[in-house]
Amino acid sequence: MNAVVLVGGEGTRLRPLTYALPKPMLPVVERPMIARVLEWLSAYGVTTAVLSLGYQPDAFVDAFPDGGWAGVELRYAVEPAPLDTGGAIRFAARAAGMDGDTMVVVNGDVLTNLDLGALVSFHRSCGAEASVALTAVEDPSAYGVVPTDADGRVLAFIEKPAREDAPTNHVNAGTYIFEPSVLDRIADGRRVSVEREVFPGLVEAKRLYALGSDAYWLDTGTPERYLRAQVDVLNGRRPEVELPECDERSAGVFVAPGGILEGDVTGCAFVGRGASVDEGSGIEDAIVGAAAHVAAGARLRHCVLLPGAIVRAGAVVEESVVGPSAVVGAGAFVTRGSVVGAAATVADGARLDSARLPV
Ligand code: GDD
Ligand code: MG
Repeated sequence: MNAVVLVGGEGTRLRPLTYALPKPMLPVVERPMIARVLEWLSAYGVTTAVLSLGYQPDAFVDAFPDGGWAGVELRYAVEPAPLDTGGAIRFAARAAGMDGDTMVVVNGDVLTNLDLGALVSFHRSCGAEASVALTAVEDPSAYGVVPTDADGRVLAFIEKPAREDAPTNHVNAGTYIFEPSVLDRIADGRRVSVEREVFPGLVEAKRLYALGSDAYWLDTGTPERYLRAQVDVLNGRRPEVELPECDERSAGVFVAPGGILEGDVTGCAFVGRGASVDEGSGIEDAIVGAAAHVAAGARLRHCVLLPGAIVRAGAVVEESVVGPSAVVGAGAFVTRGSVVGAAATVADGARLDSARLPV
């Protein structure tokens, strides 16, 4: 089976991290998110995938020098200008010559193990032109909301409604099965949103179906969810996900070769290659990337340090992401969904609360 993987967005909600690396190239426990997506597709029989690229395409091409990953052969389609989700699917499927067969389409920032085989069987049994996987979320307002009838036929596709206007909490999981004819519904050469234009057209034609799943599912598009994606790998919620080479010191506490863990740990933790967590520091639900350093007296809770980041003595980092080679100065506070960009420095004693640096 062929797949179109959408990875061309700018990742605005994860800025400034996404100035240095496009969102799907950000690591989830030391492996780019896109690699984890390809591993999932491979497990369900996808053999060829086209990456639908726009923003920083070279980062993807460089990451897979062999032109494949996990047994999936890769093709690349770089848009001349952003075509939005629908335009991107049409452009990439045609560029890769995948427009003759039923195809899988996925948002490349979603981590899941939903059963693609079950979605394909459902799609065929309904005789659908397109099928959408659904997942249940607490607040549907950040997603495409998808009410269906008892047979799974989609009654409406409402992209990001106000919370009080959402008729259900079953939302678009960003995983679709398309017949080639769906591509003919997408106008050529302009921006087309699959969610706002193509799906409503298919609803009108009564050709769109949807299947719910309670498999693990997470869209990683915000700092909070990017953090959660990694903690979920460490705390055993995703047993199917492979960890990089490491030693499990105690339940949920992993140290890669050359990593030094001398601080106190609560909950789960991952200490990457050559990283060091000094004695007298405390970490809880934290990912300390390769060659990163946590000094004595520093406290980390529910956070990610990307490779080479440094947290100096007495600093506190909570529910935040510290970019590659960034420095959190002595006694500084970085809290509540803050994002420190690549190589940025938080001054000694400074406070970053729900903030971005640089802005
Ligand atoms: N090539 C290309 N070109 N890719 C794009 C473009 C574009 O112009 N715009 C967005 N993308 C890619 C993004 O890189 C991402 O992988 C995917 O399309 C979805 O874009 P997001 O920006 O992450 O959308 P979202 O998370 O707000 O909402 C979408 O995903 C939700 C589930 O995760 C929608 O599909 C919602 O309906 C859905 O519920
Ligand atoms: Mg998203």
